[in-house]
Amino acid sequence: MKFDIITIFPEVVTPYIKASILGRAQEDGKIQINAHNLRRWTEDKHKTVDDTPYGGGAGMVMKVEPFDKAVSAVKGIENTRVILTSASGKTFTQEDAKRLAEYDQLIFLCGRYEGVDYRVEDQIADEALSIGDYVLTGGELAALTMTDAVARLVPSVIDEESLARESHDEQGYKEHPQYTKPEEYNGWTVPPILLSGDHAKIEKWRQENSL
Ligand code: ADE
Repeated sequence: MKFDIITIFPEVVTPYIKASILGRAQEDGKIQINAHNLRRWTEDKHKTVDDTPYGGGAGMVMKVEPFDKAVSAVKGIENTRVILTSASGKTFTQEDAKRLAEYDQLIFLCGRYEGVDYRVEDQIADEALSIGDYVLTGGELAALTMTDAVARLVPSVIDEESLARESHDEQGYKEHPQYTKPEEYNGWTVPPILLSGDHAKIEKWRQENSL
């Protein structure tokens, strides 16, 4: 599966996608994530990506043409989804992560908080998604959040057993408490049942203690 993140700050995005599980999954060829600088698709000397709003008002608005050209350049042939990150979009959930994991390519368009020409949402993006009811300075963290949540659902990116366990609950994020060594630290102990070796009892305890 391929992820393309179009942003004016690729240098913010790249370290995260190179690190940890996402980095390893790319090395193993399971996923491919690329951050692209939106300014590549500008024509003028200053590589302008925004302009003043029609109708007046404060702030700048991101232009439609660079996004349109960027999407045309990176979009594959089929089964692709173009997502605009937006505080006013639908709130992203685990259900969306599962739905988006069915595509071969996701293209994230990172907006800036002051605004994006509405034609980007209306004509270019297939949907606008928010990661929560708060306003970020830009869409980079949102694109990374969604990329991370979707990428871990791609087969064999993470431990299959952990994923299988998740699929037993409705949303995929109800988890029982986990413990590792040592058995006791500062007088804080691990529930004895987890040390009992009785798998049936452990399973029952885990179900009863799912958060
Ligand atoms: N851009 C600014 N705030 C955002 C949010 N909460 N979700 C997605 N994109 C955003």
